[in-house]
Amino acid sequence: SLPVPNVQDLSTKVAEEVPDRYIRSELESELVCVDESVKIPVIDLSRILNEEFRGEEMAKLHAACEEWGFFQLINHGSEAAVERIKNNVEEFFKLPFEAKKAYAQLPNGLEGYGQAFVASEDQKLDWGDMLFIRALPSHGRNMKFWPEHPTSFRETLENYSSAVKVLALQLLGMMAENLGLKAEQLTGMFEDISLSLRMNYYPPCPQADKVVGISPHSDATGLTLLIQTNNVQGLQIRKNGMWVPVNAIPGAFIINVGDMLEVWSNGKYKSIEHRVVVNSHKERLSVAGFNAPNDDAIIGPLPDLLKKDGTANYKSVDLKTFYKLNFTKLEGKKHANEMKL
Ligand code: SIN
Ligand code: FE2
Repeated sequence: SLPVPNVQDLSTKVAEEVPDRYIRSELESELVCVDESVKIPVIDLSRILNEEFRGEEMAKLHAACEEWGFFQLINHGSEAAVERIKNNVEEFFKLPFEAKKAYAQLPNGLEGYGQAFVASEDQKLDWGDMLFIRALPSHGRNMKFWPEHPTSFRETLENYSSAVKVLALQLLGMMAENLGLKAEQLTGMFEDISLSLRMNYYPPCPQADKVVGISPHSDATGLTLLIQTNNVQGLQIRKNGMWVPVNAIPGAFIINVGDMLEVWSNGKYKSIEHRVVVNSHKERLSVAGFNAPNDDAIIGPLPDLLKKDGTANYKSVDLKTFYKLNFTKLEGKKHANEMKL
C-alpha cells in the first residue's frame, strides 16, 4: 500500500479545486435515480419477533434479499448502542489531527486511522478518512488502534460489537430459514464471528459532484450492518444501471448481503455494488460493520440448498482462498463473480 493524504486535513486547505487524483471523470456519464419512490425495503424486526406478523415480515425480508440485496432495519432493539457509538465517533473525528494520528495505520496495514489502501500511484483516491478496527473475536483485537479518546470510546465499541453480533446472527438465522434451511446452517459458521468496524468521515468537498467518498464496490464478507451517524445522506446502490440513493432512517441499520452470502445462497441473494457520494457543505459520518465467518468456514453454495437446486452456480473454496481472489485487481471487482461457475 502507498501513503495517501489525510482528507480531513486536505479539505481545510483546498478552497475551490481538489487535487486531480480525486477527480472522477466517469461520474458525468452515470445516472442517479431521482424517482423517490424507488427505495430499499424497510424491515421491522419487532414484527418478525411477533408471531402475528412474523410470516408477512419474513416474506418481506426474503424479497429484500432477493430483489435488492439491501434493506433498512428498524425497531431492532439496539437503539442505545447505536446512539452511543454515533456520539463517540463524531467526537473522535473532531479531535485535532495530532491526537488522531496516535492511532494511525502502519505502512501496509489497514487497521487504524487512515485511508483505504491504494495499489498504484495513479489509482484515484476516495474523499474520506476512516478508523478501521477488528472488533471481534476479542482475541483478534489490536488495542493499539482502539482510541482512548473520547474516554468512553473503547467501552462503546465493545458494547456496539456485541450488539452487532447478536443482530447479525439473528438475521443470518432468519435468512437461512427463508432459504428453506435450518438457522444453524448459516449461524453455525458465525459462532466465532469476525467483525471489523470501518468508521468513515467524509469532509465537505468544494467539488462534491466530481469526487466519491467510497469507490463502487461490493462487500466481500457475509453481512454488513451500517449506520449513518449524522443525517447527511450519501450511500447509493446500483440498480438497473442507475445509482439509487439510500435515504437512511435515523437510528436504523442499513443492511446488505455480502459476496459470501451471495455464494452460500447459490445466487438467490445478491451482493449489490454501492458507492458513497459526498456533500459540498456538510461532513458525513458512518460506521460499517463487516461480519465474516469462522476461519474454518467454506465459501460455497450450502450443501442442503444444492440438494434442492440441483446445480451449483459457484465453486466452493476455503475462507483464505476466497479472500485472496482478485486481491490484486482492486477497484469495483466482486469476489462472488470470481466464484461463478
Ligand atoms: C460502505 O461501507 O460501503 C458505505 C459506507 C457509507 O455509507 O458511508
Ligand atoms: Fe461497502
